[in-house]
Amino acid sequence: MTARPGRHRTVAALAATALSVAVCPLGTATAAPQHPPLTRAAHTHTVDCRAVKCVALTFDDGPTQYTAALLTTLERSHALATFFLIGPHALQYRADALREYRDGDAIGDHTVTHPHLTLLPRPGIDQQIDVAAQQIASVTGHRPVLFRPPFGAWNARVREAAGAAGMAVVLWNVDPRDWKHHDPAFIDRAVLAGVRPGAIVVLHDRYATTPLAVPRLIDVLRARGYDLVTVPQLFATSGGLRSGVVYHHGPGP
Ligand code: NI
Repeated sequence: MTARPGRHRTVAALAATALSVAVCPLGTATAAPQHPPLTRAAHTHTVDCRAVKCVALTFDDGPTQYTAALLTTLERSHALATFFLIGPHALQYRADALREYRDGDAIGDHTVTHPHLTLLPRPGIDQQIDVAAQQIASVTGHRPVLFRPPFGAWNARVREAAGAAGMAVVLWNVDPRDWKHHDPAFIDRAVLAGVRPGAIVVLHDRYATTPLAVPRLIDVLRARGYDLVTVPQLFATSGGLRSGVVYHHGPGP
């Protein structure tokens, strides 16, 4: 399967072609639901975010009771996201974590107890990263290579610990502060006001209101020409992500 950067928007139009069978194996041409389920294999394609406008929506602190509805929205929209999981939440909401993985969403590590890591000695930081990674891997079968420190709080010790764990440190450059503003319309306005090509947007699937902001957010971003990509996709054509390096945003055209 060759790279198809525009696949998200064109898959419906391709529903009757053989190509769609390869892209969306579960979406048969005849009795296909309006939005055939995605599979992880469908998302191994490369998007060149140096050439097209990309944005990476990221969701922290889950999975929670609100994650399933968010995943349904993403699946229906054929949109990808990146989730930074709290290890014990992955164990508690195994089906949702696995669904994220199978959908092709990227999964990162967001520690075990969500502490301010800058206040911890290096062994404590290592433990927060490694135990969460083991917990996540016990569900998805894959150890994360992305790490987001709680509160975005990092220093040299945190960066080095992430590097030693083989993880890139992924921060953000668009923050609607959905933890404070429990209002979908506010969240949409704040993201849309701040987004630029290559943006990484921080959101949380631990609040009931945030998933409600996502359907319109996706619609407007696409209307503005954005591809919704995972964090690894965002960097795929600009050298990839390196462990122990801090990222706030990706490239843009
Ligand atoms: Ni968090």
